[in-house]
Amino acid sequence: MIDQGTVERIIEAADIVDVVQDFVTLKRRGVNYLGLCPFHNEKTPSFTVSPAKQIYKCFGCGKGGSSVNFIMEHEHLSYIEALKFLAKKYHIEVVEEEETPEMIAQRNMRESLMIVTAYARDYFLNYLMNEADGRSIGLSYFRERGFRDDIIKKFELGYCPDKKDAFTQAAQKQGYKMEFLEATGLTIKRDDWVRDRFAGRVIFPFHNLAGRVIAFGGRILKTDPKAAKYLNSPESEIYHKSKSLYGIAQAKNAIARNDKCYLVEGYTDVLSLHQAGIENVVASSGTSLTPGQIRMVKRFTPNITIIYDGDPAGIKASIRGIDMVLEEGVNVKVVPLPDGEDPDSFARSMNATSLLDYIKANETDFIRFKTQLLLKEADKDPVARARLINDIVRSIAMIPDNITRSVYIRECSLMLEVSEDLLYAEVRKIKYKSTEQQIIKEKRESIKAAAAAKNEPVKIEPKQNPCEIEEKALLRLLIRYFDHELFKVQNEETNQEESVKVGEYIISELQHDNLSSVDPVIQLIFDELSENYDKEFFDPERHFIQHENQGVSSLVSGLLVDKYIESVIWKRKGAFVEDEDEILHLLVPKLIEEYKLRHVKLLISEMMKKIGELQGSDDLEQILTLQNTITNLKKVEKDLSKKLGKRAVTS
Ligand code: CTP
Ligand code: MN
Repeated sequence: MIDQGTVERIIEAADIVDVVQDFVTLKRRGVNYLGLCPFHNEKTPSFTVSPAKQIYKCFGCGKGGSSVNFIMEHEHLSYIEALKFLAKKYHIEVVEEEETPEMIAQRNMRESLMIVTAYARDYFLNYLMNEADGRSIGLSYFRERGFRDDIIKKFELGYCPDKKDAFTQAAQKQGYKMEFLEATGLTIKRDDWVRDRFAGRVIFPFHNLAGRVIAFGGRILKTDPKAAKYLNSPESEIYHKSKSLYGIAQAKNAIARNDKCYLVEGYTDVLSLHQAGIENVVASSGTSLTPGQIRMVKRFTPNITIIYDGDPAGIKASIRGIDMVLEEGVNVKVVPLPDGEDPDSFARSMNATSLLDYIKANETDFIRFKTQLLLKEADKDPVARARLINDIVRSIAMIPDNITRSVYIRECSLMLEVSEDLLYAEVRKIKYKSTEQQIIKEKRESIKAAAAAKNEPVKIEPKQNPCEIEEKALLRLLIRYFDHELFKVQNEETNQEESVKVGEYIISELQHDNLSSVDPVIQLIFDELSENYDKEFFDPERHFIQHENQGVSSLVSGLLVDKYIESVIWKRKGAFVEDEDEILHLLVPKLIEEYKLRHVKLLISEMMKKIGELQGSDDLEQILTLQNTITNLKKVEKDLSKKLGKRAVTS
């Protein structure tokens, strides 16, 4: 237990801005600070810190609280652990009873594992510096490679003795439990033997953002063709490979300061660049980049520059997966190195200034780089060119920002010698498709999450409302753009131009074809919209959000604030070239057609089913009528599909 006086001193010292700033880049905004929320994925900052109130609050995900709450949430700590964490930061002494190994074991798993990894780091580090074989084998290896002592210290490099289970024995002697040694992967235990995972290897500890050790990489020193050059800790409670970046703790301040992050492949690349004075660098460490890793960098900067190994395989490998980076709203540049060089070797071959000069001179925007590269390959082959265009368009479509996207479209249109219009059309197709997929995916995930929360097995629910996606998309446009002009028509009697509004157009289309929803909440909204659409001062957003029916108000609020709506469906803040409201005249009719097509397909399959049920009965007349209707519906289906072209997302 920590006494009350100490608790108060800690809370006093832990200024909210100072605490949050260790993890989130904050920019001053009036009396408050604003940043990207570390608790959910967002592209525009909604995470607010109030120094006056000493609280943080995210208007995106709703999380909020004091600096202690922030540390609890962010570092996954209990209240007491968070207080201790802060006490350490502010050098406030916490007097406690000495902890026995039993007490250590009682603390939660994560904390126990981190205590073990911290011990291991100290052990390896000490062994490297102070034991005879550590110095003669490990330290001399690092020195031969040219790493300075300050770099070895900064990255807490170490050496694990080549003595079967020497580390494990030492750890156990200190009271660390086998359970945790195994769970962190430091010890490998079988029925009849125990072995140190990293025996005989030099050690590269992996840190989390807060600088605590969560895993290790070990490089072999002997030439053994059977053994892997690098061994890494397995996934554990504290180490999730896809969410960790090597070097992030040492780089985060420099990344924020330079508003840029260099990304390299390996441990030694990070070390060499640091040694050359470039400190804003992290490594994906052998894996291809994941969204989780990008999100981590994005807390500090949206600018990522990838430094490639200079061989074609390296370039190809790095290009894969970059579309996903673009999707996160990150600006990606690439620096190809000369053939045969990796960042480690290259950084050694020159001084820091010429290294930075080289990077600046050779930094190429990713899409430009990819276009040039593929263009070289495709050359004059028309099939390859078509594939290339498709490929580039796919990358461009991933960029969430409209302005950036239109800049690329202009450039690529020049490079590829195709019209901007064609590129725009292709980008739209892809964006539409991915929106659908996103919605479906999110739905699936929310079902899974709900089931997991209730501790139930995941049920693949039968599709309740087969038109849900189309209906929600229509509803959203209806409510948001109810009064927007869709297009102008010539009134035949008066010969004057009249504008058709989004609301009346959709409603009249639905009424004309007698389309209704099987979902009572959606149908209620459709009904109330058609009752009200000619009323003056009817504000559908207000009307439905304040609706007495809880189902209605929550559905509509969801439609209007859901993150995919902000980011994935073409709507972006500010009025840009390709803003959703500028293409309503394309979007709305297309959605209506999609909706009709869905209905037609459903009708056809219902009738087929009925015919199946009637088979063998004498009701020939009804079967014939049904078949007749099906034939007609198929015509309609064909017409609609043709209109929608390949873009039909219904299948
Ligand atoms: N890597 C890994 N496991 C392997 C091979 C590689 O985890 N079996 C990761 C390491 O992070 C490594 C990076 O991929 O640093 C790049 O691999 P490689 O180019 O082979 O290693 P270098 O960093 O060049 O290491 P060295 O110079 O010591 O050979
Ligand atoms: Mn190397």
